[in-house]
Amino acid sequence: MSLFVSFEGPEGGGKTTQAQQLADALSAAGHSVVNTREPGGTPIGNQVRQLLLDHGSAGMQPQTEFLLFSASRAQLVREVIEPQLARGGVVLCDRFYDSSLAYQGYGHRLDLAELQRTTRLATGGRVPDLTFLMDIDAQAGLQRRRAQGGQWNRLDGYALDFHERVRTGFLQLAAAEPARWVVLDASAGAAQLQAAVLQHVLARLAAAGR
Ligand code: TYD
Repeated sequence: MSLFVSFEGPEGGGKTTQAQQLADALSAAGHSVVNTREPGGTPIGNQVRQLLLDHGSAGMQPQTEFLLFSASRAQLVREVIEPQLARGGVVLCDRFYDSSLAYQGYGHRLDLAELQRTTRLATGGRVPDLTFLMDIDAQAGLQRRRAQGGQWNRLDGYALDFHERVRTGFLQLAAAEPARWVVLDASAGAAQLQAAVLQHVLARLAAAGR
């Protein structure tokens, strides 16, 4: 049964872990699952990812940033997401266009309606069936990310008020489309989160199979 699930949220919300655990659980249950991410997920997208996250790109304009995320997305949709959905499989994506609306729209204050127009071009109109917001306070999320010792990329280095606007943006996007979004408190334990994520996805798969 085809299902497209995206994971969204500020830094440090544990999206990547949740997506991986969900992929494992669904695969074990016999589903065909592709777990991918943005920016990246394709050879071209991975080159764009390097350009975006590299500290050497310090002078990058918000508009350039948005167009590069969109470019990576256009490639991922056509090369990975659409073929897997056409095969009747499940796609999990660690960030999708909602991240552009939250980071480049709310964070950098680019015009949301303009971003949405280009996003449509990039995605061909594809919208996730289900989107999890792993919600976390911006400062707590950044601290978590530092503590985990992961890569500290160029965007992590934006000021705290930027990250606070991003979090607010995600909450507003979720509130505007409650049928698509599930908001989870990312400060809960990983096992509890995993159970909630799996329960929502299994319910969607069951509904789709009816
Ligand atoms: P990544 O290392 O994948 O971080 P995370 O684990 O938080 O997903 O880096 C992706 C960064 O790019 C992250 O800071 C969010 C940002 N981003 C945008 O600003 N706009 C976008 O459209 C996307 C997809 C990501």
